[in-house]
Amino acid sequence: MFKPWNHPKDINKIKRHILDNRMNKLGSVSRKYSDDELDELKSIAKAQLKARNSFDKGYKLMATQNDLRYSTPQIVGDYRAKRVKKSLGNAKIVDLFSGVGLQTISFAKNLKRVLSVEIDERKVAFAERNFKLFDLRNVDLIKGDVFSEEVINKVKEFSPSVIFADPERKSVGSREDEEELIVKIYETFSPITKNLIIEIPPYMSVESLRRKIHSSFESEYLSIDGNLRRLTLYFGKLRRFEVSCVKLPEEYYLGTNHIQGNLEEVEEPGEFIIELDEAFSKSGLFSSFLTSCKILSGGRNFVLTSNELVKEDNPAKPFIQEYKTLLVENYSQDYDNNILAFLKEHDFKYVVLKQGFSPETYWQVRKSYENKLKNGDNKMAYLFKLKNKLILSELVTS
Ligand SMILES: C[S@@+](CC[C@H](N)C(=O)[O-])C[C@H]1O[C@@H](n2cnc3c(N)ncnc32)[C@H](O)[C@@H]1O
Repeated sequence: MFKPWNHPKDINKIKRHILDNRMNKLGSVSRKYSDDELDELKSIAKAQLKARNSFDKGYKLMATQNDLRYSTPQIVGDYRAKRVKKSLGNAKIVDLFSGVGLQTISFAKNLKRVLSVEIDERKVAFAERNFKLFDLRNVDLIKGDVFSEEVINKVKEFSPSVIFADPERKSVGSREDEEELIVKIYETFSPITKNLIIEIPPYMSVESLRRKIHSSFESEYLSIDGNLRRLTLYFGKLRRFEVSCVKLPEEYYLGTNHIQGNLEEVEEPGEFIIELDEAFSKSGLFSSFLTSCKILSGGRNFVLTSNELVKEDNPAKPFIQEYKTLLVENYSQDYDNNILAFLKEHDFKYVVLKQGFSPETYWQVRKSYENKLKNGDNKMAYLFKLKNKLILSELVTS
């Protein structure tokens, strides 16, 4: 097996070439390796450049671009490790499907001991290098199939207080297959400890899993900078609520045992527009915490509306952004001119496009307004495109 960690100087050289945009001039480096080896070194160099700002020692991590894509971001790994510590103290944890070991690193730094299991030989070798990079002495790493008798016996011997599983997402195969895998993990490992954590794809139906897994669990929707990034199931002593959401990097957390029914849907915006963090939206928690609001739009993220501001002491406050409605225009020939006239009259200079605008034409549309607002003050307006209406608004700041 090719050992890329024996070639750190060449990986660094490739990184410098990438940064200087001189990849076609790798010269002697290219001649030393086979095509596959060179591709691997290039991929590692790119992954290290990508990871340098988001992982401790990211600049030296041993991971290809593909490994990094399917790895746990450090901010998520650290959050999970701290969550386990809060519930169970200095626990012994098993990390199943551990890849190149990035979640293991967070567990090892925060908990007593980690047993990691990964089937792929190359990833096991990369993980070993990564554990050395952090000088971790409390990790045992096994190469094997998590469902093999040998691995199950080793997990039992380790007598963990928590088992974590982050299975591979299949690019082929049906949703049922994916669900079956989650059920299989639960059935195989729950006899060893009831304290399980299973990461599932964020699009998976939690309701369908609840019908197949006969144990209560918490489904935690996690966002980074407002975007949904993870859906994790917590069992046993790790379960705090039935449904929760958490917002990183701030670590705001909200949960409930009783999701209330749907909010009423309306056609017309009220005095305020309420934008939701994606984890808060997807978890459905908004219908329990924002009962005086109405739904203006579904889609990727729900957008709500109300005639009053959400109260300061509402625990959902960190998960929402409120806007004051300034002008509502139906699609008609003159909507653009009316919006522009309003923006000029009130000295706006910038127009941020919100839900309803396509990313492809974002800058074209935005510039079509802003090019005509050059004399405005530094004021910013927010434009939503919902229910065949354009809604011009202003951010509410407390
Ligand atoms: C989503 S990745 C894990 C990423 C990892 N948790 C991290 O934070 O870097 C899933 C991993 O499961 C491994 N895998 C797939 N089937 C397996 C099995 N039956 N036993 C052990 N590992 C397996 C894959 O090779 C892959 O590395």
